[in-house]
Amino acid sequence: MSATIYLVGAGGQLGKALRASDKASARVRALTSADIDITDEASVANALAGLGAGDVILNCAAYTDVDGAESDVGRAFAVNRDGPGHLARMSAGSGARLIHVSTDYVFAGAAATDDAPPRTVPYEPADVTGEPETVYGASKLAGERIVFDTDPTATVVRTAWVYTGAPTSSDFVGTMRRLESARPDITVVNDQTGSPTYAPDLADGLWELVSTDPDGPAAGVMLHATNAGSVSWYEVARAVFEELGADPERVRPCTTDEFPRPAPRPAYSVLSGASWTTAGLTPLRDWRAALQAAVTGDRTGRG
Ligand SMILES: NC(=O)c1ccc[n+]([C@@H]2O[C@H](COP(=O)([O-])OP(=O)(O)OC[C@H]3O[C@@H](n4cnc5c(N)ncnc54)[C@H](OP(=O)(O)O)[C@@H]3O)[C@@H](O)[C@H]2O)c1
Repeated sequence: MSATIYLVGAGGQLGKALRASDKASARVRALTSADIDITDEASVANALAGLGAGDVILNCAAYTDVDGAESDVGRAFAVNRDGPGHLARMSAGSGARLIHVSTDYVFAGAAATDDAPPRTVPYEPADVTGEPETVYGASKLAGERIVFDTDPTATVVRTAWVYTGAPTSSDFVGTMRRLESARPDITVVNDQTGSPTYAPDLADGLWELVSTDPDGPAAGVMLHATNAGSVSWYEVARAVFEELGADPERVRPCTTDEFPRPAPRPAYSVLSGASWTTAGLTPLRDWRAALQAAVTGDRTGRG
């Protein structure tokens, strides 16, 4: 009998991209929040009742409202720490493989100060995270730790700045598309640097990971997976305008201080792709080619 892939968080942005990928197999059991509540151990046991050796749990479920988490601490930790803990107990107890998705926000990514220059070196999985500056980041870091403590053979994949860019989506690229037609000009922060990641590209990478030997180099390690390159949100917005045929000069730069949010964003959270290739996986293409693919709808982009 062939193995089953339990896709947890199947109704979210990444979960939907995983389901839509042409690399998804018939063996996928898509579990939305209507099918499983990862904060509830009994619900997890019930939804994964058939789990056995050789099966895979691919967890994309998370509390992802970064600003909301600041005032909803209990819920953020229940979903982002306790939930992965419950899933890891199931994988460890059954011999199934757990692949858990985490975030660049586990890194403090502090802004430059008078005493310290801005960071310019992408983070490796082994780098010390520091104390995350947000409840979301702290809860996801706690989730990573409980996963490895409970199931040392699990794989945790950190990603960053995920978007589909669909015109109706609430992600950054979708929002810029709407603002381009709604406003004469817009102002976007130019002092936060990261790696925008096109959800379908990440989905393909995760399917490749699923297809690898469960006892291979990806077992029991942390990996980083983003589209290649680093850029500020301001530069991403300009690129969206370019792809739409609009004048990128309509995008103006501003600082984070001018646009405060309840949860402070890391100033620099670029993730190195070295661990991904070391594990034998195909690097995700450059962020600019991926953005073109997202906006034009042509998956090939320029990559
Ligand atoms: N989006 C980004 O920019 C980004 C960046 C870095 C890392 N990540 C990570 O990537 C992963 C996927 O994120 P995403 O962008 O796909 O987020 P998303 O669109 O918010 O999807 C998260 C999914 O988790 C589900 N969920 C929430 N609580 C649950 C629970 N208790 N039990 C079961 N399901 C639950 C949600 O269902 P409901 O909507 O029905 O509640 C939703 O479908 C997460 O681990 C996230 O931390 C995302």
